[in-house]
Amino acid sequence: MHRWSRLFIPTLREAPADAVVASHQILVRAGYIRQLGAGIYNYLFLGTRSINKIVAIVREEMDKIGQEFYLPALNPAEIWQESGRWTGMGENMFRLKDRKGADLCLGMTHEEVMTSIARDEVRSYKQLPQIWYQIQTKFRDEPRPKSGLLRVRQFTMKDSYSFDIDEAGLDVSYRLHDEAYRRIFTRCGLEFVAVEADSGAMGGSQSQEFMVYTEAGEDLIASSPDGKYAANIEKATALLAVVEDLPDAELEEVHTPGQRTIEEVGAFLKTQPHHQVKTMAMMAVWPDGKAKSVVAFLRGDHQLNETKLASLVGGAELRPMQPEEIASIFNAPAGYLGPIGLKQSDKLMIVLDKALEGRRNLIAGANKEEFHLRNVTPGVHFNDFVVADVRTVTEGEPDPIGGQPLRIGKAVEIGHIFKLGYKYTESMGARVLDQNGKEVMPIMGCYGIGIERILTSAMELSAAKKGLTDRGDLQYALPPSIAPFEVVITVTKQNDASLAEAGEKIARDLEAAGFDVLLDDRDQSAGVKFKDADLIGVPYRVNIGKKLAEGKVELVDRLSDTVTEHGVGDVVAQLKSAFQK
Ligand SMILES: Nc1ncnc2c1ncn2[C@@H]1O[C@H](COP(=O)(O)OP(=O)(O)O)[C@@H](O)[C@H]1O
Ligand SMILES: [Mg+2]
Repeated sequence: MHRWSRLFIPTLREAPADAVVASHQILVRAGYIRQLGAGIYNYLFLGTRSINKIVAIVREEMDKIGQEFYLPALNPAEIWQESGRWTGMGENMFRLKDRKGADLCLGMTHEEVMTSIARDEVRSYKQLPQIWYQIQTKFRDEPRPKSGLLRVRQFTMKDSYSFDIDEAGLDVSYRLHDEAYRRIFTRCGLEFVAVEADSGAMGGSQSQEFMVYTEAGEDLIASSPDGKYAANIEKATALLAVVEDLPDAELEEVHTPGQRTIEEVGAFLKTQPHHQVKTMAMMAVWPDGKAKSVVAFLRGDHQLNETKLASLVGGAELRPMQPEEIASIFNAPAGYLGPIGLKQSDKLMIVLDKALEGRRNLIAGANKEEFHLRNVTPGVHFNDFVVADVRTVTEGEPDPIGGQPLRIGKAVEIGHIFKLGYKYTESMGARVLDQNGKEVMPIMGCYGIGIERILTSAMELSAAKKGLTDRGDLQYALPPSIAPFEVVITVTKQNDASLAEAGEKIARDLEAAGFDVLLDDRDQSAGVKFKDADLIGVPYRVNIGKKLAEGKVELVDRLSDTVTEHGVGDVVAQLKSAFQK
């Protein structure tokens, strides 16, 4: 049993000035961590306990599908040179030289080391499949370490690597990881979604990121309530609700002096934005300096998704056209641009967003200063375009699988599974003999979990749910499985011998029943003790106070924010049922 009076739990009244996100504030204020340098942290007692609990869950689940290794963080340059990543990793790699002048680096990930083991040791298809994992420190010289433990330069990763004889085998290893990850994150008490990630680069490969919705995240994702559909906003699509077109009429030019924006034109002509065409005039610029004009037409109330458009154009950066560039394509100034009269060429690509396909009698710029057109119908009044989905979906639109309202929000990546293919077995020369005695390359998968990110996401999730106190203090509680303690026993008056004794006894009984217990035996006011207990995020608290005279104690469930009274003798049974122990 741990007695608070003897522990080092340096709680603070204030969060450091640079702590913006909830988890950063909590971790420092609750004495979980202390900063040593930019993106480098000391994990103190509570931080280490939580991390160890997460690691234990990860290990238990990973042991069901793979074998644990422990690889060096210190890597010779040679293996990274073989794979081509010694240069490819650029500035993110921490590099050093040994006393003989040989190049070394600190491992950012371990494909190279794992592949070198497979290459040197695995000879036959009979030895496959293999899943090897480790839980170990990674070093990345992040350009902008920030948000406490969310983006750091030294962190703990569970990384695993699968080696299979063929794609069917890889499918199985990948699925096993998908299932193990879901079990791990669920056991850690997280709500998460699995987002299909970019799979372009590897050619037909598959990749999934496990994300937790939080304002502290750096990605923007969209997902359905049932989790069956989830995608990065750069890729997300939605079913379109049917909109009614304006009644058929002849193409007509209207004078719209000073009316440039969708809103202005809408108000002036008394129509809705979804009856208008928005013209996005962009320049695509490739790294070699080559450029091409790209004009996209979207529904007036829709937003252009530059990433979708950029990938349609093919690996270029997009920027808005300059006024001269606009004039050269449209012969009109911004505000009056539209589709009629444009021709595609090797200098100009014209894109009609899918949401405008089949629409009729729209309002668009006339390509003539101070004029718009009514009753423009794509395919009738203009034909030269490619149709593509280049818009950004918005909150509440129906998801493309089940038609459920999409949730859009920032999220943080807690894990990533990836079908790697032959990249490393090829570059590093790993070969095995197949059933026919022929030399073949094993196919690989790689899979990562950010251990600290499980803790930080749990804090962010709970803090977001609970909100601030009236006095503006953060509130949160950790899931029991990853909290540093499951229960804290708060003796409200330590110098009252009967209270102190009852605290000791309940703590002992709980421990005997398999609970991880913290006894707050400090000689402090009840107020301070309650505050500290809340601050360290322990999900259950037993208050030993005045009611003890009647044989009663209070049980505070901080996850559901309920307080109940129990007989001294019943509190263990009560907690057992809450924990299903
Ligand atoms: N700088 C970092 N600080 C904390 N955790 C990190 C950091 N970089 C990556 N992680 C965690 O490690 C997991 C696996 O890493 P990986 O997918 O290679 O990272 P990334 O997507 O940032 O390149 C990520 O899903 C994330 O949870
Ligand atoms: Mg990743």
